Amino acid sequence: MAMAQELLKVFVSRRIPLEGFRALAEAGICTIGQWDSDEPVTRQELLKGIAGAHGLYCMLTDKIDEEILQAAGPNLKIISTLSVGFDHLSLDEIKKRGIRVGYTPDVLTAATAELTVALLLATSRRLMEAVEEVKNGGWSAWKPLWLCGFGLQESTVGIVGLGRIGLAIAERLKPFGVKRFLYTGRQPRPEPAAKVQAEYVPLNTLASQSDFIILSCSFTPDTQGMCNKDFFAKMKKTAILINSSRGAVVNQEDLYQALTTGQIAAAGMDVTVPEPLPTNHPLLSLKNCVVLPHIGSATYATRNAMSVLAANNLLAGLKGEPMPSELKM
Ligand code: NDP
Ligand code: DGY
Repeated sequence: MAMAQELLKVFVSRRIPLEGFRALAEAGICTIGQWDSDEPVTRQELLKGIAGAHGLYCMLTDKIDEEILQAAGPNLKIISTLSVGFDHLSLDEIKKRGIRVGYTPDVLTAATAELTVALLLATSRRLMEAVEEVKNGGWSAWKPLWLCGFGLQESTVGIVGLGRIGLAIAERLKPFGVKRFLYTGRQPRPEPAAKVQAEYVPLNTLASQSDFIILSCSFTPDTQGMCNKDFFAKMKKTAILINSSRGAVVNQEDLYQALTTGQIAAAGMDVTVPEPLPTNHPLLSLKNCVVLPHIGSATYATRNAMSVLAANNLLAGLKGEPMPSELKM
C-alpha cells in the first residue's frame, strides 16, 4: 500500500490576493503558515514562521538574509517573491544553500509602464499643483502663463535600463510624439532598441541630452546612487527625472539640492528611501516633486496575476519541477 505523502511546510509572509492563496491551498502538497495581515511581517514573526519551512512566499519588504536562512534551517529549498525586483534577497547566501528562487517578471510590465507614464505626465504637467489650486481657491481665471509645464512632443526621452519595463514605457511614450529615445545600460540591447528606434549612449550623454529621464533599471551595487549631484549637474535645467525602479538609485539629498536650486525642473518618484517616506521629509515640501507610494504594479489584475505566478513558482519548486519564472543565479 502506498504511503501518504507528508505535507511540506510553507510560510507566506503577508495576506495575498485570494487567487494566489487558493492556488497554494488547493495544490494539496503543503501546509500553509501565514502572516495574515496587510502590513509587513515583523522580523520576529518571520524568524518564527520560517523555522523548518520548505518554501517561503515573500514580499519585497522582507529582507531575506543569512539570519533568516539560518532560522529556516536545511528544509528550505524554495523562495518565491511576489516581485520582479530581487534586491531584498541575499543571493550569495541563498545560492550557497542551493535554494531556488522564483519571481514575477512580465505579468507586471504593462501596469508598471502605465503608472510610470502617469507619473511622468502628472509631474511634467503639474497635475498635483493644479488640483491643489482648484481646491484652495488659487484658480482665479484662465491665465496665459499659469501652471505651464513641459510636453512630450518633439522631446528627447532617456531611459536608464531598456529592460522589460523600460521598453514598455518607451512604447507607450512613442505615440506622444517623442522625437528621440536614448537609453543606457551595461551594454547595447539592439533588439528592444530597434522596436522604438532608441540610441545607445553613455550615461553622461543621456543625462545632458534628455528632456525626460526615466529610471527603469534594476537596483544593484552599480546603480546604487547613480543619480547624484554630478548626474544632476549634467542634466538640462528644464529636464524632469522619473524613478520607478528602486529609491536608492537616486541620492535624495542631491535630488533635493537639484530641485531647490533650479538645476533640474522636477522629479516624480514612485520609489524612495525609506519606504514609506516620512511625512516630514524635505522632498514632500516641494511643489516640483511628486512622490507616489510604490504603486507601479498596483492594478487588481496585475496583483492577482503576480500572486498566482508566485504560488505556481513555489509549488513547482516544491515538486522539484521547472518553475514558470525562475531567477537565473
Ligand atoms: P529587467 O531585468 O528586464 O530590466 C532591468 C534593466 O536594468 C535592464 O535593462 C538592465 O540593462 C538595466 N541595468 C542593470 N544594471 C544596469 C546599470 N549598471 N546601468 C544601467 N542599467 C542597468 O527588469 P524589469 O524591467 O522587469 O524591472 C526593472 C526594475 O523595475 C525591477 O528590478 C524593479 O526594481 C523595478 N520595478 C518597480 C516597480 C514599481 O512598482 N515601481 C514594479 C516592477 C519593477 P542591461 O542588462 O543592458 O545593463
Ligand atoms: C517589483 O515587483 O519589484 C515591484 O517593485 C513591485 O511590484
